[in-house]
Formats: sequence, structure tokens, C-alpha cells
Amino acid sequence: MPQIRLAYVSRRAPHLTDDAIVDDIVLPAMAKNRRLEITGCLWFDQRRFLQVLEGPAESVEGVFASIVADSRHTDVDLIRRAPDEQRSFARWAMKPVRAGEGDPIGAMVASLSPESIPPRRRRPREAPTPPTPGALTRIVRLLAASAG
Ligand SMILES: Cc1cc2nc3c(=O)[nH]c(=O)nc-3n(C[C@H](O)[C@H](O)[C@H](O)COP(=O)(O)O)c2cc1C
Repeated sequence: MPQIRLAYVSRRAPHLTDDAIVDDIVLPAMAKNRRLEITGCLWFDQRRFLQVLEGPAESVEGVFASIVADSRHTDVDLIRRAPDEQRSFARWAMKPVRAGEGDPIGAMVASLSPESIPPRRRRPREAPTPPTPGALTRIVRLLAASAG
């Protein structure tokens, strides 16, 4: 089965707590992703998510469809969906990364996801200005190296 890497940014629902992200999203996701041979990372700050999903195309697409429909975030903005046989998060069913103060990733995510996205848009769409391929690669490298 061919593998893909998919990445998106989204807007975190206003009342979603950090604890709820870890307990109610990341922990169940780890179990399900493991079954589906999906690995990846979920970065979040107070307003946004950036998620990378990697694994068999069918598994990733199926989980992504559930994620897009999930009301715990909005404005899901697809930034990459491409064949990729290499995994950056091979040891993580879903690595949670909470943004730290002055987190350089936050500024990089902002550049991928213009703040002009209208609220409550529910359908995934291509980013209006396609990010340079190097931008996501740099973020993935930082996320893979972070303590998690
Ligand atoms: C930001 C965000 C990231 C998520 N990431 C994953 C994930 O990596 N894997 C997963 O199975 N569910 C993830 N979910 C949860 C799915 O939206 C959905 O609730 C879950 O897949 C439902 O699984 P079930 O129908 O098997 O219970 C995520 C949800 C949100 C809001």
C-alpha cells in the first residue's frame, strides 16, 4: 500500500482546553492510529493546530475525513497531501507538541495559515497562497526534534 504524508492547519475551538486535547483527542488517536499504521504529530497553541499524518494512503484519508468533520476545530486548511514513503514520526502514533513561549513554530504556522481565514469554514481547501515546500519541511524537522 502506498504511503502518503498529509498536513493541515486549523483553528482550535474556543473552549477546548489543553487537557481535553491530550486526554480526549491525542490519547484515543494514538490507539486508533496504531491500529491503522498511522504516525504523526499534533502541534497546538492557544488558537491553532498543525497536524502531520503519515501512513498508508487509505488509512490516512479515512482518519482525515473524521478529523475534518470534528467540531473541536474549524477552518481545516490542507497544506500538503503527497506520496511519501519516509516517516518523520516513525516512533509516534501521534506526538503531541504544545507550543512554548516564543515558539518559532507558531510564527511559521502563521505563515502557512493566513489569519484572514473566515471563521467556521468547515471544508478543507487548498491554502490561498501555496506555502513554499521548504516551509513545511522545516517545521516537520523542528517538530520531530522537539521533546514532545
Ligand atoms: C485536531 C484533531 C486531531 C485529531 N487527530 C486524530 C488522529 O490523529 N487520529 C484519530 O484517529 N483521530 C483524531 N482525531 C479525532 C477524530 O476527529 C475522530 O474523533 C476520531 O477519529 C473518531 O474515531 P472513532 O469514530 O473510531 O471513535 C482528531 C481530532 C482533532 C480535533
